[in-house]
Amino acid sequence: MSSAPFLAYARQVIGEDDIAAVANVLRGEWLTTGPAVEAFEAALAKSVGAKHAIVCNSGTAALYIAARAAGLKDGDTVIVPSVTFLATASANVLAGVNVVFADVDPDTGLMSVAHARDAWQRSGGKAKAIYPVYLGGRVDNPAALRDFGDANGMVVIEDACHALGTSYGNSASQVGACEHSLAACFSFHPAKTIAMGEGGAVTTNSDALAHAARRVRNQGMTRTADEFRNQELAFAPDGAPNPWYYEASEISHNFRASDINCALGLSQLGKLSGFVAARRLLMSLYEKALAPLFPRVQLVKGAPGDSIGWHICQVLVDFSGTDRCTVMKKLNALGIGAQVHYIPVHMQPFYRAQYDTPELPGASRFYQRTLSLPLYPAMAKDDVDRVVDALSQSLAP
Ligand SMILES: Cc1ncc(COP(=O)(O)O)c(C=O)c1O
Repeated sequence: MSSAPFLAYARQVIGEDDIAAVANVLRGEWLTTGPAVEAFEAALAKSVGAKHAIVCNSGTAALYIAARAAGLKDGDTVIVPSVTFLATASANVLAGVNVVFADVDPDTGLMSVAHARDAWQRSGGKAKAIYPVYLGGRVDNPAALRDFGDANGMVVIEDACHALGTSYGNSASQVGACEHSLAACFSFHPAKTIAMGEGGAVTTNSDALAHAARRVRNQGMTRTADEFRNQELAFAPDGAPNPWYYEASEISHNFRASDINCALGLSQLGKLSGFVAARRLLMSLYEKALAPLFPRVQLVKGAPGDSIGWHICQVLVDFSGTDRCTVMKKLNALGIGAQVHYIPVHMQPFYRAQYDTPELPGASRFYQRTLSLPLYPAMAKDDVDRVVDALSQSLAP
């Protein structure tokens, strides 16, 4: 066993300022539906360059809210790449929407237009939305996916849970600004670039989607008078809305985020550029340190001209002569956490039983080789060297 501290594959970085921000909320009036929620939403919208940010209690909730607010409903079909976390698919299934799984590039794990087109054909041309997933923070030509969606009557909803802080096209476009999408969804789970504890958000430039998203976030409930249908209950004899009145014209859950979580999110967001810079520096150190292990170990990189807000450090490994399980156990014994992002979702028992997805060779090839190494802003250069040294040792027969 190693005596050096264990390096998890991901972890939050919390400072005294974050703790003070949360304590401040605890001492105040509002634990939920208060000013910290609004302040975080305003700061997040500004940070990503979108008109609206709707904060909620997880990335999964953000995906569900976006699907419902985009008007996707029972029996509709959407395209989701198979290499993603369960939530991209399950949020849709929970909204009654069918998923057609797209293949991905075997070397990037990302869905391109060609993969989306193949899935669209398998949907019988019926899919209504495409969900690009920005694995690790990387994108694959969002404008081309939007054009493909536009040409075939599909909206684009970005699963940007990994990609806060990514810009692309020589920084011309920022993830979350929704230049090429109807909405983008974020997660602020502690493993992500900023932490809320549990939390997420939808960003959009659409007033209609933002309004609907706020309704779906809160029980399908509205207090907007011109949406009221029960005229006799809603209005006083003078025609003014009754002060207590609210109405539900659709059913939903409670997806609200508390002021406690939003205070943490807001404080962390203030440090986003520092976090992203630290992650980029660590990735460049990994690139140098891993070079001697090439071609057995290849770092998954971003496209030229993209500035990635790296969420995870993924490598593709040739495990021949050993296997991933053995390597991960050896890494663990050396104090290094590693993970696999992701088991292709179409292989999960639920989806195997539900859908007849053909073999997706790109997803299988990426899955067989991928390994995520520790990456978080509190790591130092020595930590990177330690990880790479441990990986080299762990790959030895
Ligand atoms: C790609 C992707 N989508 C969605 C989610 C769901 O986010 P959360 O865990 O905040 O619900 C995650 C989180 O792990 C994710 O990695």
